[in-house]
Amino acid sequence: VDEDEFILRPIEDGDSFTSFKTGDADFAPLKMFARTKAKPYEKANLARTYVIKDQANNRMAAYITLVCSEIRSVEAVADIDGNLFPYDQYPAVKIARLMVDERYRGTQGLASKKLGSLLVDFALGIAKYDIAALVGCRFISVDAKEKSVAFYEKVGFTLLDTPDNKARAEKIMFVDLSKL
Ligand SMILES: CC(C)(COP(=O)(O)OP(=O)(O)OC[C@H]1O[C@@H](n2cnc3c(N)ncnc32)[C@H](O)[C@@H]1OP(=O)(O)O)[C@@H](O)C(=O)NCCC(=O)NCCS
Repeated sequence: VDEDEFILRPIEDGDSFTSFKTGDADFAPLKMFARTKAKPYEKANLARTYVIKDQANNRMAAYITLVCSEIRSVEAVADIDGNLFPYDQYPAVKIARLMVDERYRGTQGLASKKLGSLLVDFALGIAKYDIAALVGCRFISVDAKEKSVAFYEKVGFTLLDTPDNKARAEKIMFVDLSKL
């Protein structure tokens, strides 16, 4: 991201998402979260939200929200540690929300950058080098809507391979931080 035009930083009190464009009614809750919940959650230590701001146009281009989590349905990944780890929950960081304003999506958008990928890479970096360095944390996960499964596959996530998960509206996808 061009530092003069776009900045990636934690959400601030003055940030406004009222003109954020979701592009699809399905994603209205993502805009609602940014408008009404992201800042209170920040103060209550329930989530951390990072924004990409388009400085030239003085508006938000994208955001990502991260929380502590665990992957529960680990049948498909549990064998990675054999008998070492006898629990059915693995510690993880979760991408709780991710949205790029529709005008900034893809390389054809106003940013001509891959803002979605950039925010995912940012989250992977935090999970691996900040969180996992200090607190046991093996995975980064996301509950992906059907429409975003292909995006997460592109940026390196694996769909949890269980029939239950494949039938869910929001499918668990993950990256094994040990393999990064
Ligand atoms: C999904 C989303 C975050 C992607 O952001 P983006 O900035 O447009 O994505 P990028 O430009 O970084 O795309 C990275 C790659 O994924 C591909 N991609 C992006 N969206 C895709 C989609 N919906 N389906 C398939 N591939 C997709 C891009 O073509 C690109 O591929 P390439 O590397 O081969 O060029 C954005 O479209 C969005 O906010 N959608 C609505 C909200 C949403 O789905 N959030 C996730 C909630 S779980």
